[in-house]
Amino acid sequence: MATTIEELEDRRERARLGGGQARIDAQHAKGRLTARERLDVLLDPGSFEEYDMFVEHNCSDFGMESQKVPGDGVVTGSGTINGRLVYVFAQDFTVFGGSLSERHAQKICKVMDMALKVGAPVIGLNDSGGARIQEGVASLGGYAEVFQRNVLASGVVPQISLIMGPCAGGAVYSPAMTDFIFMVKDSSYMFVTGPDVVKTVTNEVVTQEELGGAVTHTTKSGVADVAFENDIEALLATRDFFDYLPLSNRHDLPTRPTTDPWDRIEDSLDTLIPDSANKPYDMHELIRKVVDEGDFFEVQPTHAGNILCGFGRVEGRTIGIVANQPMVLAGVLDINSSKKAGRFVRFCDAFDIPIVTFVDVPGFLPGVAQEHSGIIKHGAKLLFAYAEATVPKITVITRKAYGGAYDVMASKHLRGDLNYAWPSAEIAVMGAKGAVEIIFRKDIGDAQKIAERTREYEERFANPFVAASKGFIDEVIMPHSTRRRIALGLRKLRDKQLENPWKKHDNIPL
Ligand code: HXC
Repeated sequence: MATTIEELEDRRERARLGGGQARIDAQHAKGRLTARERLDVLLDPGSFEEYDMFVEHNCSDFGMESQKVPGDGVVTGSGTINGRLVYVFAQDFTVFGGSLSERHAQKICKVMDMALKVGAPVIGLNDSGGARIQEGVASLGGYAEVFQRNVLASGVVPQISLIMGPCAGGAVYSPAMTDFIFMVKDSSYMFVTGPDVVKTVTNEVVTQEELGGAVTHTTKSGVADVAFENDIEALLATRDFFDYLPLSNRHDLPTRPTTDPWDRIEDSLDTLIPDSANKPYDMHELIRKVVDEGDFFEVQPTHAGNILCGFGRVEGRTIGIVANQPMVLAGVLDINSSKKAGRFVRFCDAFDIPIVTFVDVPGFLPGVAQEHSGIIKHGAKLLFAYAEATVPKITVITRKAYGGAYDVMASKHLRGDLNYAWPSAEIAVMGAKGAVEIIFRKDIGDAQKIAERTREYEERFANPFVAASKGFIDEVIMPHSTRRRIALGLRKLRDKQLENPWKKHDNIPL
């Protein structure tokens, strides 16, 4: 018996060494942690239970039969984050560059299947050279098995991907189908084909960082959500982020005790809106003054900054927040902001997270580039997402709600449950100047007449009362009471029941 236990320990020790000390040192030299070190930071101490530590690849081509490493390049299992269950996989770059073999894929699929069965999120720590080249099609099949599970799990359990090294080829498509992607600056890359292939095919010369680094994907492409400075910061932020999410679509929202009074009055909000309608103000300030303890986890903070999306809590319960940001492009809706917020709204709806929307939007962005790139279809994504969402929806119009964008931003007509407006709200088809130039075109040469007409239009529409008189706004509220109103609304809507007609699935304009 003693010998058997020793042998087990010995085998475990060998498995823990992955691709060996030299490769571990190389990983550290690049400023990266190993797969196991990452799991140590991500999970509660002592909570990790590993599966399949002794799985080996089954490839016998290219001399692979003599190069077997227990675990086969991925560490899988379950653990807890602040006491809540999570399934994890962490690719081990020290073993064949974290590349995905048939057996490596089977290990990932096993934890995904478990997560789906019991209802728990999956967090993948990705660090992989893509398909295991020696295995050929077996590896491609392995990827597709993972992709299939990503799709089945979508909307059932939250899926989070951390990109912590190079991710090339097939290694990017599984993360792409998960709910959130976090990257590490100067250390992680995502591309379908790397700089060498790009050079051969298109003759473009580009670095890995420019092509698919963390900054590129969290600013330009919007593929990833947040870029962190290093592995530790990314992993610790993931723990915070995890606390906002329910375990699955059949679990309740997590709650966190709070000492922040639900009816906290914020007098400073009464002066948040500047005197001039064209002056910007920072919508973050409103968000932070409404949520518990000012905690707001923003997703995609550096992409499409004209809309803000993220999670906060009210009375300890998670809410999703969508808000136009007057500081960037005056808060206009364009292609990128519509896609960003549309996807966020759908995530919230899938996991029963109430949505609070703050509106200050001058409309959709005009322009040839926007039209030719499909603003009609992309803008419709956000419209569709709000309209199909059945979770509690509370909307507060702080200033402008113009045109189609008024409709889109969780208006009463899209089944907004509580639609509030501040006294500073202006709800109209467009701004007064634009409106007068169209409906009084014949008077354009007469500056005095135009000024009079503009004043008339402003008096009629630069307020919330026309909309309120029609019941499109439930109540005009004082800015300082916004948190109290939202908290009360969320309480009342907690048991909201609303179902869309039966269908196989909808056909959102992709
Ligand atoms: C097998 C691999 C590998 C792979 C890396 N390695 N990628 N082994 N299959 N795909 C091995 C290397 O041989 C090396 O082994 C070790 O991992 C570390 O790799 P290095 O190249 O030394 O590391 P680095 O310089 O950091 O470069 C990392 C890299 C590069 C950028 C990921 O290795 C690379 O370009 N790899 C190939 C990427 C690729 O083309 N993958 C296939 C994509 S096609 P030793 O023994 O020396 O330590 C694909 C199709 C799926 O994925 C499509 C599904 C839709």
